[in-house]
Amino acid sequence: MNLKDFLSRNNTDPKLSELILFFAENGQTIKSGFLKSQNKAGTHNIYGEEQMALDKWADDVLINGLKKTRLVRYIATEEQPGIIEIDNPKNQFGVVIDPLDGSSLIDVNLAVGTIIGIYPGTVLDMGKNMIAAMYILYGPLTTLTFTTGNGVHDFVMDEKGDFHLTAENIKMPDGKIYAPGALRKDYLPAHARFIEILEKDGYKLRFSGSFVADMHQILHKGGMFTYPGIKGKEKGKLRLLFEANPMGKIITEAGGAVSNGKIDILSIKPDVIDYITPIYAGGKKEIGLINRYMNEI
Ligand code: AHG
Ligand code: MN
Ligand code: MN
Repeated sequence: MNLKDFLSRNNTDPKLSELILFFAENGQTIKSGFLKSQNKAGTHNIYGEEQMALDKWADDVLINGLKKTRLVRYIATEEQPGIIEIDNPKNQFGVVIDPLDGSSLIDVNLAVGTIIGIYPGTVLDMGKNMIAAMYILYGPLTTLTFTTGNGVHDFVMDEKGDFHLTAENIKMPDGKIYAPGALRKDYLPAHARFIEILEKDGYKLRFSGSFVADMHQILHKGGMFTYPGIKGKEKGKLRLLFEANPMGKIITEAGGAVSNGKIDILSIKPDVIDYITPIYAGGKKEIGLINRYMNEI
């Protein structure tokens, strides 16, 4: 069954379906752009990170497409300094986008992705108010994973760019994979204790440098991903709006959990679009453990 039929079979709101299909179509465009350039753009984003030409290109594809279709009112992306408001929009949706996640891996041909969250209105909202979250993973296959709060579903792109259902109502299994970002020498005490427990329990290390790729593996095989707060960088690295919230929504919907180490990330109300947060995302058992360690301090 293709994505369009799946959305209509599930009685998805037609306006939301149109928006999800917009991102699916543009995922194909982004994928086809990977032959363009693997170079750096020579510019930096608001996080001080060097932008790749493809970061900016993917950002332009999505923003220009949304301006043309007027499917949303608000757009916030990892590559833009502020919220873009569309004149005369057809809908009131707000979207948050990480156009290319894992972009430091582009020049070595490892899997990267696009992450999207959809709100009924403003993007400065709690993650739990998202009405849909999705990601597209560009690996040996291009896959699309999404939720509208009615299960998590996987699709694979065919040679024509159409997405076909491969897994419905995914529930994350128990598993022993851990994907820890940052350097061990900078770990804070509760985090160090947590990682030590996982290692003693036989968790296998799997950290690629692409949040989408690592989370997709954890969704299907169990375990947990973290980019923790560290010494001198207590907020960690990942962005609440563009990375933590959409992925957190998907993993929670699949029976897992997401936390900043103390509380559910989806209940944080951001005041700025570039809000940074430590993140722990994965099985309820693992996230419960780090919450306990951190809240004991
Ligand atoms: P982005 O490419 O959107 O800037 O995101 C990179 C993120 C995430 O994908 C990954 O988990 C993490 O940064 C890797 O960071 P390190 O290079 O510090 O390991
Ligand atoms: Mn990212
Ligand atoms: Mn990015």
